[in-house]
Amino acid sequence: MSALAVTALAGPMIKITDLHQRFGLHEVLKGIHLEVAPREVVSIIGPSGSGKSTLLQCVNRLQHVHRGHIWIEDEDILAKGVDVNRLCRKVGMVFQHFNLFENKTALDNVILAPVKLGLAAKVAAWPRNLSGGQKQCVAIARALAMNPDVMKDLARGSRTMMVVTHEMGFACEVSHRMLFMDDGVVVEDAPPEQFFNRPQSPRTKAFLEKIL
Ligand SMILES: Nc1ncnc2c1ncn2[C@@H]1O[C@H](COP(=O)(O)OP(=O)(O)OP(=O)(O)O)[C@@H](O)[C@H]1O
Ligand SMILES: [Mg+2]
Repeated sequence: MSALAVTALAGPMIKITDLHQRFGLHEVLKGIHLEVAPREVVSIIGPSGSGKSTLLQCVNRLQHVHRGHIWIEDEDILAKGVDVNRLCRKVGMVFQHFNLFENKTALDNVILAPVKLGLAAKVAAWPRNLSGGQKQCVAIARALAMNPDVMKDLARGSRTMMVVTHEMGFACEVSHRMLFMDDGVVVEDAPPEQFFNRPQSPRTKAFLEKIL
C-alpha cells in the first residue's frame, strides 16, 4: 500500500467545519465542527428543534448550506458539480422516525429504498447475477425484515454512521461517541460511558436527567 493510501485511510470519513444553516432569519445550525473516523458510529441526541435532522440533511445534501464545509472521504460535497446521485448511493439516511409508508406492507417498505436506488430491474434476478453491492443490499433488506437486532450488527460493522436517535439503550450499546446538540451547536461529545455517567455540560446533565 502506498504512503498516500495510508494517509487517506487515516483521515476522517466525515469532516464538518463551521457549518451554518438557517431557514429565513431562523439560524438552526450555528457553527458545527465535527469529525467522524472511518467505521466510527456517532449518535446524536438533543431536544426537539436543536438541529439534529437538519445536520444530517446537510450531510446528505438535502439542504442548501449557508456557510461551512463538509468533506466525505476528502471530497468536498458542497462543491459545485458534485454528483448528488452518486453521493446518495454512498451516504445512506435512516430516519429517526422510521418514515414507513402507511399504505405499504412491511415487505414493500423494506424493498422500496433499494428499488428506488436502482435494484428495480433486479427484483427477479438470481444472486449469481447480482453485483457485490446489490447482493449486500438484498441481504441487508432480508436481515432487517427478519431481525431488527441486525441494526446493531450493522452499526458494529464496517460502516461509518451518524445516527439520530431517541433510543438511549441502543445508542449507548452501538456508539463509539455520543453527541448532545442543543440550539444549533454540539454541546457535548464523549464516549457513551463518560457521556451518560459524567457529562461535562450542565445542559447535557439537565437533558439526560429529564429523559432518563
Ligand atoms: N424546512 C424548514 N423550514 C423552516 N424551518 C425548518 C425547516 N426544517 C426545520 N426547521 C426548523 O429548524 C429547527 C431544527 O429542526 P430539526 O428538524 O433539525 O430539529 P431536530 O433536532 O431534528 O428535532 P426533532 O428531535 O423534533 O426531530 C426547528 O426549529 C425547525 O422548526
Ligand atoms: Mg429531527
